[in-house]
Amino acid sequence: MSIYTFMENLFKEPYTLPTIVITVAIAVFITHLQETKKLNEEKEEEQRKKIESSENVVKKNEGGSTSSESTSTASSSKPKAFALPETPLPPPNWSRIFTHEELAQHDGSKDDLPIYVAIKGTVFDVTTKKAMYGPSGGYHCFAGKDASKALGMSSLKAEDCIADYSTLSEKERKTLDDWYSFFEKRYPIVGKTGDA
Ligand code: HEM
Repeated sequence: MSIYTFMENLFKEPYTLPTIVITVAIAVFITHLQETKKLNEEKEEEQRKKIESSENVVKKNEGGSTSSESTSTASSSKPKAFALPETPLPPPNWSRIFTHEELAQHDGSKDDLPIYVAIKGTVFDVTTKKAMYGPSGGYHCFAGKDASKALGMSSLKAEDCIADYSTLSEKERKTLDDWYSFFEKRYPIVGKTGDA
């Protein structure tokens, strides 16, 4: 059978398991390409910002004024997904210790309380992304708890949303650490859990 006949048969109804598997694999692959592209763009943006700020320091040292105009133009043209906060984060508050019960109150189900997500014992305030972490958000499973294991595993399963990440492989630990730095750059640190 030629490759053409094989492909033709593959996508003929009724769809077989290999057809579904291949379609899903292609979809996952495309999604990954898109996400990698976004992350690369973000890295380039950070690099550009660094260069820009060092240029501003040089200008300042030379007696020129810093260009706040160019900074605001840069931030307004930034893509929304994975965007860094426009205002600097407040200093971390390491003195507040959350109990599990206390943290659980901050899962977004109470309108008057901020939404918190903990990673490796550090509690982040993710209230600005209520659409994602609130009750109807796709990442609500992480809210009000330390979800380290799930983040390392790239899992959205409730049973994986636990603080104990000791079962993670080396690669998964790296993924978890990447998420930690992602959150660290975007969300205020409001405390830590007793497990930290
Ligand atoms: C097909 C599967 C998935 C797709 C298409 C997808 C897509 C996305 C996109 C587009 C964003 C950026 C949203 C924004 O900033 O506005 C995002 C963020 C995120 N994703 Fe996923 N995702 C998928 C699966 C997962 C899984 C399995 C996890 C489990 C760890 C996960 C965890 C996250 C987290 C933690 C964020 C950061 C949200 C934030 O605080 O900004 N995603 N995802």
